[in-house]
Amino acid sequence: MAHSGNIRAVSTDLEDLFAFLRFPSISTDSRHAGDVKACATWLLEKLDAMGLRTELHETPKHPLVIARNTHVAGRRTLLIYGHYDVQPVDPLELWTSDPFQPEIRDGLIWARGATDNKGQMLAHVLGVEKLLRENNELPLNLIFLFEGEEEIGSPNLAPFLQENCDALRCDVIAISDTGMVAPGIPTFGYGLRGIACCEVTLRGPKGDLHSGLFGGAVANPAAAIARLVASLHHADGRVAINGFYDQVRPLETWEREMWSRIPGAGDADFLKVTGSPTLFGEPGYSSAERTWARPTAEVNGIGGGYQGEGSKTVLPAEAFVKLSLRLVPDQCPEMIMQQVEAHLRQHCPPGVEIEIDNGHYGAPYITDPNSKYGLAAQAALRAAFDAQPVLIREGGSIPIVQTFRDILGADTLLLGLALPDAQIHAPNENFPVENFEAGIRLNQKLLEELAR
Ligand code: BES
Ligand code: ZN
Repeated sequence: MAHSGNIRAVSTDLEDLFAFLRFPSISTDSRHAGDVKACATWLLEKLDAMGLRTELHETPKHPLVIARNTHVAGRRTLLIYGHYDVQPVDPLELWTSDPFQPEIRDGLIWARGATDNKGQMLAHVLGVEKLLRENNELPLNLIFLFEGEEEIGSPNLAPFLQENCDALRCDVIAISDTGMVAPGIPTFGYGLRGIACCEVTLRGPKGDLHSGLFGGAVANPAAAIARLVASLHHADGRVAINGFYDQVRPLETWEREMWSRIPGAGDADFLKVTGSPTLFGEPGYSSAERTWARPTAEVNGIGGGYQGEGSKTVLPAEAFVKLSLRLVPDQCPEMIMQQVEAHLRQHCPPGVEIEIDNGHYGAPYITDPNSKYGLAAQAALRAAFDAQPVLIREGGSIPIVQTFRDILGADTLLLGLALPDAQIHAPNENFPVENFEAGIRLNQKLLEELAR
């Protein structure tokens, strides 16, 4: 890792964020369970010091952190959700600086979790801290709900919501864990894609074989997985799974019209941000439409056989692929998974055995951007950024959002601060200092607007 000069945090807000970012709270890696816990404890102490009533709830994996002000009957209740866990950092050698030693370079904070979600999450906390400092109280009833398992599909949050739904009753939910179309353009999200994940393993011979001695006499699992994966799409990019598009809600004309005018979300912008040679996807849709409102099937990883330097004439005993399907209203994750499984079994080439392990599920989400609370959120965004917000749906997933609606009966306002090139889940994740500061202002405004 090449280190450039480490510019130190320059405000107490940034010092807080740097302290928060130094915990390697990687939820998927059990070797980091202690770090996840330490991060939760730091957060709890921060919220405590702000004068909120805090609770740490252990779960079978990572703890939940909850904090409340003193609730007053008759006032509106806002629940703010965020996650303090982060994704793994590998490949580590591609980071310019240590992912858990935050640095500011070129106005950006570089660290794992800087955008997803610690920077955005702490902006919620510090916005509230400012309001409390100024007024000694908040204009509404507030519940902070922070979890350490979002990046592994929130396995313990839904059961917790079920058991504590009375204590968590609220009028509306706010989350800053989504995107912003371009710097300086406030972005209000009114939809999220859902997700369904699975891992497929194809098994052939009982062990790896010499490809000269046995190749041609038995099926090759690596070749078979390639054919199986190829069967998932038509050549033009449409998903070839039977029934896959049956429940898809068509895009509204006003959405297509509105999205076509959003700066930073044109096809040319997608080409630039991705660095791909060309764009490719379902015919008849723009990149924004393809990612925000159309379902997809993606290969997240594929393997089998020799991966080292040079060649090795082996016929691998098995091969695997990790798949994720992104879903849109009104697709149902369980039903889609059944269709996927039927497709995989039907298209599995001869000579291998197939095993399908289902991973996490999350339902898609959509709400009315111009509801009473939606308009309040837009007003807060306008005030914090001094610009007119744009309205988008999100390509990513936060599965708990639809679960919030199902269990708590409340809708979620998505106040994204993540820029397209924030490198979330990848090396060199970053978050502009400017967005962190705007996020703090945004939360002050949001509470005021929602209290009206
Ligand atoms: N914050 C992201 C989701 C996100 C990012 C939504 C940017 C919209 C814009 C979240 O932490 C995430 O990564 N979610 C996962 C889903 C989860 C089940 C692993 C995802 O979308 O892959
Ligand atoms: Zn994430």
